[in-house]
Amino acid sequence: MERSLPNSRLNMEKYDLQDVLEPYEKLIEIDICGTAHMVPENNTLLRCFQYLATENISYGDFCWNGECINCQVWLQNGDKEKAVMACRTTVAEGMKIVRLAEGIDLDF
Ligand code: FES
Repeated sequence: MERSLPNSRLNMEKYDLQDVLEPYEKLIEIDICGTAHMVPENNTLLRCFQYLATENISYGDFCWNGECINCQVWLQNGDKEKAVMACRTTVAEGMKIVRLAEGIDLDF
């Protein structure tokens, strides 16, 4: 029996991510611009974005090592916003992202 394209693509994405994600035991909830998402603990925010939107982030314009600033996001920090680089920031339960750099296309 032939598999449908969406399932094949999904399986391929999951397979590829095993090579890039840090080991994790559970998903944790974060808020991205007002919407809750479950992402793998123990990973950077940029890897979490890749988990959520594999193709867009994998082929995005990112250096992955702290040099380009294309991965900049703004976190809620009390009454203020704090800018961080998603490729250098480890995700934490309840993290609230209020703004994304223009090049971060999460497709939702
Ligand atoms: S991806 Fe280039 S600084 Fe984060």
